[in-house]
Amino acid sequence: MLPSGIQQESAPGRPLGRFVPVEGSVPTTPHLAPTPPQPIVLPVTEGTGPAATVPAPRDGDPELVQHADDLDTRAADQEDQEEQAEESTAVVEETRQPTGPAAPAYDDAERAAVLKVMRERRDIRNGFRSDPIPHEVLLRVLEAAHTAPSVGHSQPWDFVVIRSADTRRTMHELAMRQRDAYAKSLPKGRAKQFKELKIEAILDTPVNIVVTADPTRGGRHTLGRHTQPQMAPYSAALAVENLWLAARAEGLGVGWVSFFDEREMVRALGLPEHLEVIAYLCVGYVDEFPDEPELLQAGWSKRRPLSWVVHEETYGRRALPGEEPHDLLAETVAQIRPLDAKALGEAWERQKRMTKPAGALGMLEIISAQLSGLSRQCPPPIPEPAAVAIFAGDHGVHAQGVTPWPQEVTAQMVANFLGGGAVCNAFAGQVGAEVCVVDVGVAADLPATPGLLPRKVRAGTSDMTTGPAMTREEAKQAIEVGIETARDLVAAGNKALLTGEMGIANTTASAALISVFTGADAAEVTGRGTGINDETLARKTEVVRRAIEVHQPDPADPIGVLAAIGGFEHAALVGLLLGGASLRTPVILDGVSAGAAALVARAIAPEVLAACIAGHRSAEPGHVAALNKLGLRPLVDLDLRLGEGTGALLALPLVQSTARAMHEVATFDSAGVTEK
Ligand SMILES: Cc1cc2nc3c(=O)[nH]c(=O)nc-3n(C[C@H](O)[C@H](O)[C@H](O)COP(=O)(O)O)c2cc1C
Repeated sequence: MLPSGIQQESAPGRPLGRFVPVEGSVPTTPHLAPTPPQPIVLPVTEGTGPAATVPAPRDGDPELVQHADDLDTRAADQEDQEEQAEESTAVVEETRQPTGPAAPAYDDAERAAVLKVMRERRDIRNGFRSDPIPHEVLLRVLEAAHTAPSVGHSQPWDFVVIRSADTRRTMHELAMRQRDAYAKSLPKGRAKQFKELKIEAILDTPVNIVVTADPTRGGRHTLGRHTQPQMAPYSAALAVENLWLAARAEGLGVGWVSFFDEREMVRALGLPEHLEVIAYLCVGYVDEFPDEPELLQAGWSKRRPLSWVVHEETYGRRALPGEEPHDLLAETVAQIRPLDAKALGEAWERQKRMTKPAGALGMLEIISAQLSGLSRQCPPPIPEPAAVAIFAGDHGVHAQGVTPWPQEVTAQMVANFLGGGAVCNAFAGQVGAEVCVVDVGVAADLPATPGLLPRKVRAGTSDMTTGPAMTREEAKQAIEVGIETARDLVAAGNKALLTGEMGIANTTASAALISVFTGADAAEVTGRGTGINDETLARKTEVVRRAIEVHQPDPADPIGVLAAIGGFEHAALVGLLLGGASLRTPVILDGVSAGAAALVARAIAPEVLAACIAGHRSAEPGHVAALNKLGLRPLVDLDLRLGEGTGALLALPLVQSTARAMHEVATFDSAGVTEK
């Protein structure tokens, strides 16, 4: 009953429930046995050895070697130098030999107490009490703050303790104004969630503490601050953490409020103008300390695992201490699982019991079951908020005249997305989704702009008719960009990911990928893209055919295929799909490029399709071929051929509606409705 590509986890002995009949061309035999992922041929990253040390030039070293004598002298000099270096290393190693016992650690109970306070420190907004804070308690907390480390021992902090109800009311008004402004800036899906959140407890706490940093303290020559002036506010932030931990140990809750315009705050509090405000803290006794961050409990965010953020030697070689560095792609693939059979069965059962004729929601019932199996929950979480990730890249094959659009349009459209002026922005605004633009390979320098993730692998691929579009390493790097984008968006609380892309000439690469993975002839899968004429279409088809002939890509080596004929945005989309699936988050596919990427992703990890929902069917012939091969049935079919995630955005409310129906529609027994 699920689209044929989607597999479900078998659960021996567990009833799967009866499948609800639906009309349509959806294949009726779900694969019950999980298929192991195909082995992936990954480029081996060479181990990073210790960095070579280059001796500093010494006085008297000849600038240029002009004579054989000079060479001798130089060689002798170098030998001397190396000997000296060896000696000094030996000396250093000798002095590093431990001579006595190391400084003692805390005993187990003390260490446990330190770790406990760190683990159990919470930011508190709810459940404050009006009980006064004894002076000696507040003093201990401030003393702890005052022992914080600071740049050049400059101790740049001050603490302004506020108890006055009038001052707190003023500060509360300022914070409420900023809260409103922030709420207005949010996509609708987020704004709904935000409305339910309390973000301050200014009036609910007996004491507020303003922590400031004085960037002039310590004088002009503060040690360690000459190249990094931000070290002063960092030091003050460390004082805040000390205060927070000490307060937790005293049973005091602390809530940090950063909904302020800093200068407005300085004026309202009558602070000296040269101070920076680091924190506004609400402090008081509380009913309880929640086990988890309140934002996590509210579904606003997710905790990122430690293993995502620890790198060994070089950024990207992720490994916890004592572990071998793990490959991001292999790790992601290993976490992808088929649909959960139990939740899937419950979903079919529930659909039958909902107050409507069985199967009356057609394809949407299948989607609701898929969402249940994916999340392992029935009813499944409503996929809101959602974000569309638009990966942008340029294509060397543009040089072959496959489109009348100039290449610079890619960068111009990226600017348009960021400025909010594109169709995807209008659609995202309508359905309440966030737009996240990722430069994974645009052939232009893009200025830093809010909403743009700068992740360029290279400024455009090479022309695939004359050589590989990218190296294997680049293809893998772009896949990793997609995986990390999925991780970031999901950790930020998004419950559905939508694919989007922008890249002039990218339907040529899409057609080539689809031809390789479906076996269809170039002529069957090459389309008019942005609306090219017959002559350009003939050329484009020929280009696709030629690229495939040149590379003879092997579909059993999906990364090799991507590298030969893909685009950076295709590779990143592959990563987004794999990343979304590994996090059990639905991914709504947009058009032909997403279809091409899904074929690659499926060749890497067949169960990736458990997370994939085909948002729409585009007018590109290759897209139909891709969807048929994937066994995915599109939700929307409106002859769109735009990309940018527009088709996926239109499908989002359908996916959300079907999940909501699972939550809100009464069952025959609960509503007392007689069954047929
Ligand atoms: C610099 C900083 C600013 C913060 N600003 C706010 C804020 O304005 N409102 C709020 O409700 N929480 C604020 N928080 C609290 C965070 O939301 C909270 O630390 C995070 O959700 C993790 O929860 P936990 O502190 O309980 O572990 C802030 C935290 C920090 C470190």
